[in-house]
Amino acid sequence: MSTLAIQGLCVSAGATPLVRDVSLQLARGRVLGLVGTSGGGKSLTVLAMLGLLPPALRQTGGQVLRDGAVLAAQQVAALRGAVVGLVQQSPRACFNPLVTIGRHFAETLAAHGLARRAAADRAAGLLAEVGFADPAAVLASYAFQLSGGMLQRVMLALALCRDPDFLLADEPTTDLDLAVQAQILALLEQMVAQRGIGVLLVTHDLSVIARLADDVAVMQGGRIVEQRDVVGLFEAPCHPATQALLRTHFALYGEATE
Ligand SMILES: Nc1ncnc2c1ncn2[C@@H]1O[C@H](COP(=O)(O)OP(=O)(O)O)[C@@H](O)[C@H]1O
Ligand SMILES: [Mg+2]
Repeated sequence: MSTLAIQGLCVSAGATPLVRDVSLQLARGRVLGLVGTSGGGKSLTVLAMLGLLPPALRQTGGQVLRDGAVLAAQQVAALRGAVVGLVQQSPRACFNPLVTIGRHFAETLAAHGLARRAAADRAAGLLAEVGFADPAAVLASYAFQLSGGMLQRVMLALALCRDPDFLLADEPTTDLDLAVQAQILALLEQMVAQRGIGVLLVTHDLSVIARLADDVAVMQGGRIVEQRDVVGLFEAPCHPATQALLRTHFALYGEATE
């Protein structure tokens, strides 16, 4: 089984620990949900998995493993895009407003050695895969001409350029309205079912977890406080942090949303 894991991850800002001894494992074809209240360390964990921590922070412990083998720093960097795709919150911030969507694809695909004509075909194919009826029109557009939901789909297509085995999705639906959220979640489900991608899905929204995740890790204060299968977590949450998340969720949405 193809896996990507992080083991014993510790991240600090100066003397302040922000992520403490976090271990997670992704497997192809499965969705691991990472939940918790804001500031818990979820985004830093995702960034550390790709060796992308901000310069002000230090990784004081832990390693990334591929199929059980520990990776050196440059091997972790080489995973980006090729083995692991990244989709983040606020897609608009991820695009250069001065160049077309087509140019974003051309640059990503050229960096991976694809010739111009082949790159254009590949970009159109990926945009069709994420649900665009007219890929050529999207490729000719600038980010400001597209809605947030459209940009999130474009970001997903860009993340798929090199057929990654894994996708790290950090709050991919947080800034989108409900109908568009559902569309993005359906696409992620499709990526898992059709491509066999393994997904780390970071969210503060338990209804997203209930819909997509096979397993769930709950993060609080930089630690994983509970980690188990999704049904067990909803039926019998053990940790007070998990219980509090579920209480908030059911107060907002009622018991029937599951
Ligand atoms: N560049 C940074 N410098 C200092 N502290 C940071 C930095 N980035 C994040 N933090 C802190 O690390 C903690 C975890 O952040 P984050 O991983 O973004 O949480 P989450 O994604 O769970 O909301 C927070 O307390 C946040 O303020
Ligand atoms: Mg975050």
